[in-house]
Amino acid sequence: MGESMAGLKRTHYCNQVKENLIGSEVVVMGWAQKRRNLGSLIFIDLRDRSGLLQVVFDENDVDGEGFKKAETLRSEFVIAVRGAVRQRESVNPNMETGYVEVLAKELRILSEAETPPFAIEENSAVKEDLRLKYRYLDLRRPDLQRNIMLRHRVTQSVRRFLDGEGFLEIETPMLAKSTPEGARDYLVPSRVHQGSFYALPQSPQTFKQLLMVSGFDRYFQIVRCFRDEDLRADRQPEFTQIDMELSFVQVNDVIDVNERLLQRVFKEAINIDIPLPIPRLTYQEAMDRFGSDKPDIRFGLELVNISDIAKDSGFKVFTDAIENGGSVRGINAKGCGNFPRKQIDSLVEVGKTYGAKGIAWIAVNEDGTLKSSFTKFLSEETVQAILKAMDAENGDLLLFCADKNSVVYDALGNLRLEVAKRLGLTKKDEYSFVWVTEFPLLEWDEEEQRFVAKHHPFTSPMDEDIELLDTDPGKVRAKAYDICLNGVEIGGGSIRIYQRDIQEKMFAALGFSKEAAYENFGFLMNAFKYGVPPHGGLAYGLDRMVMLMAQEDSIRDVIAFPKVKDASCPMTEAPGTVTEKQLEELGLKIDIKK
Ligand code: AMO
Ligand code: AMP
Repeated sequence: MGESMAGLKRTHYCNQVKENLIGSEVVVMGWAQKRRNLGSLIFIDLRDRSGLLQVVFDENDVDGEGFKKAETLRSEFVIAVRGAVRQRESVNPNMETGYVEVLAKELRILSEAETPPFAIEENSAVKEDLRLKYRYLDLRRPDLQRNIMLRHRVTQSVRRFLDGEGFLEIETPMLAKSTPEGARDYLVPSRVHQGSFYALPQSPQTFKQLLMVSGFDRYFQIVRCFRDEDLRADRQPEFTQIDMELSFVQVNDVIDVNERLLQRVFKEAINIDIPLPIPRLTYQEAMDRFGSDKPDIRFGLELVNISDIAKDSGFKVFTDAIENGGSVRGINAKGCGNFPRKQIDSLVEVGKTYGAKGIAWIAVNEDGTLKSSFTKFLSEETVQAILKAMDAENGDLLLFCADKNSVVYDALGNLRLEVAKRLGLTKKDEYSFVWVTEFPLLEWDEEEQRFVAKHHPFTSPMDEDIELLDTDPGKVRAKAYDICLNGVEIGGGSIRIYQRDIQEKMFAALGFSKEAAYENFGFLMNAFKYGVPPHGGLAYGLDRMVMLMAQEDSIRDVIAFPKVKDASCPMTEAPGTVTEKQLEELGLKIDIKK
């Protein structure tokens, strides 16, 4: 049975109890972290969300049964302590409150606790599944407390900034119709309209465009989005966007306000200065130089196209790739020339997991001699030309891939990241932003044998490429942009199509009949009949942004109650079955096809 709090009111959080309070009486409340018994003295580390504070119970000073009660204290008991602040005898400089302690006068045990399934401590080595089953305990750990509080500071900072810029926070429906983001929808059956389903929004995309039609001019929302995709470290089935849309804007207007937003939020939340303007790369530059549309520009190791040399090399692996419309490119892993063969082989394997048929390599020894998997097939002249093109110096390792461009980019782009990791070039406290612009409007879908929108079907083509929509749709570039941070896509958006004829061309390029387009997006198309302002916007993945700010590797570490890999929740055991009655009301019958 827990004691009452009556007559006691908390005066301070634990970490507010500092030297300036020495001599005063305080009341603190929280969890007992650990107890040490020294006969007539008992020490407790008291924990609340602000940190730890040492409390000492001295037989001679505690009122009534206080000392006896203190002897029963165990980890995670919730207690209230009234006492006097005093200088500590043995100072703990590693603790924020390490110079003081509270000498208890009164102790109340507000709630007892069973032994928790794991210790509540920083950097837990406990397996994540167990931590997530007891997430409410996991969340007591100082690192997660810090992450969740950081997330709060980020959203508050975003709200203040956007409010100051004249954005209106407007909510949009969760029970909606299928949206065009291209992932699988989560569906909610309707009881009233049996056999019909709502779709949980993959993003508020269509609604925010409608708000522009309504004249709100600048909208934002910190909003949950739902996508039934395969999960990864930076993907959750429900995640949060900082979503915005603006009227009467062009690409540079959206970029401008967002650069200032990022600068403000990173300063306010983690005291990092972001120099503006943020560098920009076109999609093509990003692919050619970094092999990725979310380039990590914290380090170089850029791709070099050696197709011109390779095409006359006589080496079949290279010449075949080029004849088939591909290319030969390489990266210079600076200073890796002395990697043992095993390490080089493992880099080759990394390339292969990204689709490369092989990775050809040259190690330049410290004395200038070469070790290589393929120079034996080349003339000395070609070898020298390659070394020169790659800017090779003694001690370098050159890695090459020959294939169609998409494979070359993917394999070398990922090898680049792997080499950087092994060289320790990916520092988490370095923040390198880059805009990637001029994305392709369309992307060929092998499975469906048609073009699909790379971003979504409302993204505007670039003015100078509109003609190509009819003749060479794959070449059309879009007024679309992503913002990347340290190799993570933290946000993306576009200027939208507002002219009906272009929208119809776009639907045609996507292989939608007019009827199908209207069936899916009729409300938006209808709305556009009544006067639509040119508009565009952007959405950030809040979870990813906070993950990088917190220097974590997974967005699960910045979400209070995340899901695990199979999209389930170990704590609530969602998703779960429902009763026959619930199904009946919905007019549904379960018939699971194996
Ligand atoms: P997009 O689909 O690029 O754009 O999403 C915007 C940002 O959301 C984040 N994100 C995710 N984060 C966690 N888990 C996921 N499953 C997940 N999927 C996406 C990414 C991404 O950059 N409506 C458009 C925006 C616009 O055009 O204005 C949209 O949703 O960081
Ligand atoms: P092979 O002639 O198959 O023995 O290959 C000679 C060298 O070329 C080996 O080091 C292979 O790993 C490498 N190689 C094979 N295919 C490719 C490719 N597509 N791109 C780059 N190197 C390759």
